[in-house]
Amino acid sequence: MKILVAGGAGFIGSAFVRYTLEAYPADSVLVVDKLTYAGNMENLAGLERLPNYEFVRGDICDRSLMQELVANCDAVVNFAAETHVDRALVEADAFIRTDVYGVYSLAEVCKSASHSLKLFVQISTDEVYGPQYEGAATEESPIRPTNPYSASKAGGELLALSYHRSFGVPVIVVRGSNNMGPRQHPEKFIPLLITNALEDKELPIYGDGLYVREWIYVDDFVRGVDLVLRQGKVGEVYNIGGGLENQKTQLEVANAILELLGKPKSLIKHVADRPGHDRRYSIDSSKVQALGWKRQYGFDAALEATVNWYRANEGWWRRIKSGEFAEYYRRMYERR
Ligand code: NAD
Ligand code: TYD
Repeated sequence: MKILVAGGAGFIGSAFVRYTLEAYPADSVLVVDKLTYAGNMENLAGLERLPNYEFVRGDICDRSLMQELVANCDAVVNFAAETHVDRALVEADAFIRTDVYGVYSLAEVCKSASHSLKLFVQISTDEVYGPQYEGAATEESPIRPTNPYSASKAGGELLALSYHRSFGVPVIVVRGSNNMGPRQHPEKFIPLLITNALEDKELPIYGDGLYVREWIYVDDFVRGVDLVLRQGKVGEVYNIGGGLENQKTQLEVANAILELLGKPKSLIKHVADRPGHDRRYSIDSSKVQALGWKRQYGFDAALEATVNWYRANEGWWRRIKSGEFAEYYRRMYERR
């Protein structure tokens, strides 16, 4: 199988590329990535020597480029997106462009009949369900996104599914819960806390710190995406989450990180809440489990592996934190 991985230089995309090349040496992977502030060629370092791997810098909105790339592939897996809720709350243009228009544009390319594409997997998020005050959302639950990021992701996946229903494009949608693991940009909660703690800086906690996220280790998520790619049913949606036992509040996560790093609890600092902050996400993953998927990491093992990676790869995150990120951090947190 030849797989086009869009957004393959990001956190989850690069983990998926690495997993695929290792697990299926007979397959080939073509990565297309715009290399926004979140894309990082270091995430793909070492793969360039493989004959079955290729990288192209490009935008999923670029119809003619995507036409050319899709024409030679059996499957497209689209991880490409603007992904940070806090940035979407400041300026949502890029989110609408990539997460809505970009997915529409890819769906259009997949619709054109001049190629033998078997599958288009659109990676979406549990955030499209909006807050789940109790229980867990199944794939049939209503979509009620509450912020410009989740609304854009919902728009993208609904367009992709509409291209299946209207034109027979072979679409599958995956809705993932909050991932953690190596190579996640330090703007996100867990890497921000780990790297701030390593630098003896404060750990910013929005609001009361009792907002719940369902954490999954990125390798577990990627194996789920792979299973859906190879055995999922076209036209379907699959939740892939960490499960009830891995749902944690921000304060639980922060305390666990400080414990692992031997840093004082006094680093925790409550700051102004995020507008429209969803209280809790929770998804039911039994549909993908019925395909044979099982998590290998619980929260503690996942967090320990993640902390160890950031400890061992200081150069990776220090290069990001010392660049334009420093200005972003001042803007978002200085007087919060
Ligand atoms: P990320 O921000 O680390 O990576 C996104 C990648 O997409 C970057 O490499 C970036 O350069 C690329 N990109 C952005 N715009 C592009 C465009 N127009 N054309 C081509 N490439 C573009 O994100 P991530 O955390 O790896 O998330 C990957 C996908 O998984 C996203 O679709 C996200 O919505 C979804 N998701 C993420 C999580 C999570 O916890 N991280 C949870 C559920 C779903
Ligand atoms: P984040 O990593 O931004 O993921 P998402 O908003 O997509 O779930 O945030 C995870 C949780 O942590 C969310 O409840 C917001 C909270 N958070 C903080 O408390 N402080 C921070 O500095 C950040 C970035 C997030």
